[in-house]
This record gives sequence, C-alpha cells and structure tokens, in this order.
Amino acid sequence: MPLTESLHVRSTRLAYDTVAVDYEELVREELAAKPLDRAMLGAFAEVVRAAGAGPVADAGCGPGRIAAYLAGLGLDVFGVDLSPEMIAVARRAHPGLRFEVGDMTALGSVDGALGGIVAWYSTVHTPPEALPEVLAEFRRALAPDGRLLLAFKAGDERRHLERAYGHELSLDVYWTPPDRVAAMVAAAGLEVEATLVREPDERERPRQGRQAFLMARRT
Ligand SMILES: C[S@@+](CC[C@H](N)C(=O)[O-])C[C@H]1O[C@@H](n2cnc3c(N)ncnc32)[C@H](O)[C@@H]1O
Repeated sequence: MPLTESLHVRSTRLAYDTVAVDYEELVREELAAKPLDRAMLGAFAEVVRAAGAGPVADAGCGPGRIAAYLAGLGLDVFGVDLSPEMIAVARRAHPGLRFEVGDMTALGSVDGALGGIVAWYSTVHTPPEALPEVLAEFRRALAPDGRLLLAFKAGDERRHLERAYGHELSLDVYWTPPDRVAAMVAAAGLEVEATLVREPDERERPRQGRQAFLMARRT
C-alpha cells in the first residue's frame, strides 16, 4: 500500500473488503434486468472489437460481473480492483478471467496498450476533484481508437454511508452531473461519443436517482 495513499482510497478498500461476499450475491444477476445498461455494454463491446486495439481493463471490477459479461461478448478482459477481498471473490466467480489488486490511477499497463477501459460505478467513490487524475490515467493507457465506458450516478451530491449490503462501514458516494463528467473527460483528451441518462428502475427507487453512462474515444 503506497504511503501517500488518499483517505478516500483507504476507506473504499476497507469498505469493499468488508462487503465483498454479500455485494457479489446482490449484484450477480442484476444486469439481466437492465436492458439499457446492457445496450451500452453491447455498443462498447462492438466498437472495441471493431477497433481491435488491445485488451480491455475493467477498472474497479469488484466481483467481476462486468468483466465476465464483456468476455461473453468476445472481449479480452481483465479486472483490477482496490479490494483484495473483491478480487478473491472475482477469481472464485470467474476462474477463467484474470483479476489483479490495483488502483485505477495506476493501471500498470504500458502507454497506449488498452483497446478499452470500463469503469462501472467504480469512479463513484472518487471525489470529483480527484477524477481528472483517474481520467488522465485512462487516457494514458488507452490505444488510439480505444474506448472508455463509464457508469455513474447522475446528480450533484455526496452521501456518506455508514451501513450498506448488511454491514457497517464508512464510504462516500458521489453523484455527479453528466455534463460535468463529460467536460472532465474532454479535458483529459478523450472525445465523448455518447451519454445515456436513464431513470432509476424499480429496484433503484426511491433511494437512487438517475443513472448515467458515457462512452468516449481516445483520438
Ligand atoms: C460499486 S462497486 C462496482 C463494482 C463493479 N464495477 C460492479 O459493477 O459490480 C465499486 C468498486 O470500485 C472499486 N474501486 C473504487 N475506487 C477504486 C480505485 N481507485 N481503484 C480500483 N478500484 C476501485 C471498489 O473497490 C469496488 O469494488
């Protein structure tokens, strides 16, 4: 663990180490009931396959369900997550895929090596002022024509959770306006291709609001 690690990184790791097993159970079948989310993943998979620019990193992969879904769509995917417990869960759930403990601000890939990066609700624990550092790392690691896909919570607030997935923890979650994220993505040197904002579904209401998905291309 780096000595200079931010507090939000440390508390996020601790929180997901605590909830890893229950979180995996809760989200295991979730995508099946989310056709618009699958549509974004499907479009991402199609353009990444067509560009043929390299493997795909699932950054903040958690239990690996998104990596597994994309692998099922023909992508060469590996997962990276801060939480060793999440990585253990992902390896058990998807033994055919590669999962490594790591921070998305230092993906460990050489410059321009990745055909795609998906960050599915994994930037939501990064304070908005620290997002440019994450996006700069994504741009560095993407190949020309490589794609970034973000899923995040649309809004403008920070919520501090002291309990989630049946456990006590301490975790900040940030809701961010899609326009602000798009501007940050553009400022990082990526071209925004699409933003989808959908209403919360039955399972997400009433606590969750709109959900946002953004795809961008490294020019
Ligand atoms: C809400 S979960 C989403 C997990 C997975 N993407 C999914 O949709 O099932 C957020 C995940 O992002 C990871 N995460 C948050 N910040 C991270 C960072 N800086 N580097 C790597 N992983 C991170 C957490 O450890 C956690 O597993």
